[in-house]
Amino acid sequence: MSTTHEAGWAHASGALRGPAWLRQPVDPNALVPQLWSMTAHKAGGELHVGGLSVPELVANVNTPAYVLDEADFRARARAFRDAFAAYDVFYAGKAFLCTAVAQWVHEEGLSLDVCSDGELTVALRAGFDPARIGYHGNNKSLVELRRAVAAGVGRIVVDSFDEISRLETITAEAGMTARVMVRVTAGVEAHTHEYIATAHEDQKFGFSITSGDALEAVRRVEAAPGIELLGLHSHIGSQIFDSSGFEVAARRVLALQARISDELGVTLPELDLGGGFGIAYTTQDDPSDPAQLATEMTKIVEHECRALGIPEPRLSVEPGRAIVGPAMCTVYTIGTVKAVQLDGGAVRSYVSVDGGMSDNIRTALYDADYSCTLVNRVSDAPPVLSRVVGKHCEAGDVVVKDEFLPGDLAPGDLLAVPGTGAYCRSMASNYNHALRPPVVAVRDGVARVVVRRETEDDLLATDMGDAS
Ligand SMILES: Cc1ncc(COP(=O)(O)O)c(C=O)c1O
Repeated sequence: MSTTHEAGWAHASGALRGPAWLRQPVDPNALVPQLWSMTAHKAGGELHVGGLSVPELVANVNTPAYVLDEADFRARARAFRDAFAAYDVFYAGKAFLCTAVAQWVHEEGLSLDVCSDGELTVALRAGFDPARIGYHGNNKSLVELRRAVAAGVGRIVVDSFDEISRLETITAEAGMTARVMVRVTAGVEAHTHEYIATAHEDQKFGFSITSGDALEAVRRVEAAPGIELLGLHSHIGSQIFDSSGFEVAARRVLALQARISDELGVTLPELDLGGGFGIAYTTQDDPSDPAQLATEMTKIVEHECRALGIPEPRLSVEPGRAIVGPAMCTVYTIGTVKAVQLDGGAVRSYVSVDGGMSDNIRTALYDADYSCTLVNRVSDAPPVLSRVVGKHCEAGDVVVKDEFLPGDLAPGDLLAVPGTGAYCRSMASNYNHALRPPVVAVRDGVARVVVRRETEDDLLATDMGDAS
């Protein structure tokens, strides 16, 4: 990323070369396989996913549209289930959840992690076994916790002393037991290949190990007659490509577990190491596969437990992005193409599409990198460095910051962005009163709209007008 301009990368005059990792493709019509779902391929310049031509598909459902490769989702879910066979694998629904996806997660034998009342509603509506649901969140209200306990949610991950008090009240009044994990902050912040181990934790999630809050939370939970403590929970970050951050976190969390055993005489049967496994958004990303991660994480926990003289807890993980991220792509129609003259005479091609930050906020929010390709025809035009932007009233409304795209792109052409399954539809908004796009699941030549496009009636349904 170039940040030579005080207003940020989007204004940097030196950015025309693109980021250092971006290479001009040998064949700009070809897909880069590691960025796409398993059934994606091109034929005659047209993208096919799930046995269907994407241009034909969007001729029916319109654009923008998220195309979800069901076989790919299921294969990734199974890969995690099998690689982590000795663990419980909770699919993190915050990445993307709808009732169809909750059913696939159930059918593939995974458990489900929800982090809000709304996600719990979707899971229950899908008929997901509540005993296999984990419930996260740093501010679960009395009402939300009461519902979770009454529904028989298998584990509630407590995040504050206030939540512990609420669960004490709920279990006492209902005569029920809540099964909980205590979320701790291990002082590790992981992102891609780097992690930072810190002594203090300046963020909202979890109980600090170093301050003693985590031990105190365990003491409180243990003393509450209606609460059953399953174990500790640690989640260290996102887009993580190797196990070194998990290693530091596991060491710190297991040291706490040993202390709990010594000081409270309590053996915790379970340990959750969270999610955060990375995926490839661009050619610079090289994620580990689930089997490799599972082997490394198991080794770390075995080694630490042996060194500490404590029994090995049953482990669980919570992958979201790594299951749904690569399974989806977003298809857009190009509306305008503008050559913008930069300082020094260079020209950047601004390609505007019919969606933007309302269907993918990650570029603006996290400075995320994406890739994209032309999907409705072959082009022989030389590639030019392009920026794909949305149609919202915001200069930062960028979908793909830098990509080499054919120089003859024109209004009406289709672009597809791979890797948009995680945190795109789930974070989508109605900014500028945009209608959120549909999610179309494709499999074996059949398309099913699993989330329909919003309508203007949906938009106006909550607008009560002026009652005076
Ligand atoms: C507690 C917890 N578990 C799991 C996840 C899923 O992370 P990812 O989708 O990166 O695997 C998150 C994401 O924020 C999280 O906060």
